[in-house]
Amino acid sequence: MDIIFSIVVLLSLQRIGHARSIIDSTNVFSVDAYGAVGDGKTDDSQAFLKAWKDACGSKDGVSTLSIPSGKTFLLKPITFSGPCQAAGIHVQILGTIQAPQQSEWSGVDPDMWIMFREISGLNLEGPGTIDGSGSQWWPKSCKHSPKACLQAPTQLVMMGCSHIQMSHLKLVNSPRNHLSIASCDNVVMNDLTITAPGDSPNTDGIDISNSKSIVLSNSIIATGDDCVAINSGTSDLNITGVACGPGHGIRNLQSK
Ligand SMILES: *[C@@H]1O[C@H](CO)[C@@H](O)[C@H](O)[C@H]1NC(C)=O
Repeated sequence: MDIIFSIVVLLSLQRIGHARSIIDSTNVFSVDAYGAVGDGKTDDSQAFLKAWKDACGSKDGVSTLSIPSGKTFLLKPITFSGPCQAAGIHVQILGTIQAPQQSEWSGVDPDMWIMFREISGLNLEGPGTIDGSGSQWWPKSCKHSPKACLQAPTQLVMMGCSHIQMSHLKLVNSPRNHLSIASCDNVVMNDLTITAPGDSPNTDGIDISNSKSIVLSNSIIATGDDCVAINSGTSDLNITGVACGPGHGIRNLQSK
């Protein structure tokens, strides 16, 4: 009885919260309002950075960074940095975020594409897609052509973050590994779909290192390499309901 009651209360609170965010949009920061075009060709990085700066700097509770549906936003390599003044940031990814083709990366550090750094309280929520446009990178991988190979970027990096949530998101076609969790704590990942062709080189699903208190549940990871790679310094990690393959399974690479 008590449990049912609390669920009902929780649901109603969520409704109120939702309604409030529509009526009082002061802490919703839509990339559209910052000039993002979303035609899949224009570089929208500056618009995203300006929206992030205001969302992160807002002192009015939790900020929502909204990425609208029905559009494709092209982003150059980009870092969203904290710490933030906002109590938390809800990144609502409804549309598609796309990486430039490999030929457009000239002069840019190819280590990673999108990074979230030193943020406490971050909620990345779909149902949108983050597309790494990996196909031009794969034939140039060192796995295929050691003589003339290119270092390919990691698609999405969470670095030094705490209390992160990622849900209902699609990560597709990374040039290298799709998601890297490094030096983070209290991470909840649910309903992620991570896909790349089975023969794409080094396209791990999730790499975790130096991180603790992590839950990964109800997800599909179908890529060309490790499904989840657990690297050194990782503890308190629970994985349930994850479908892996065609790549390798869950690999524990920590030295014992
Ligand atoms: C993982 O599961 C164990 C056993 O159920 C639990 O004690 C621990 O708190 C869980 N860790 C997280 C991060 O949820």
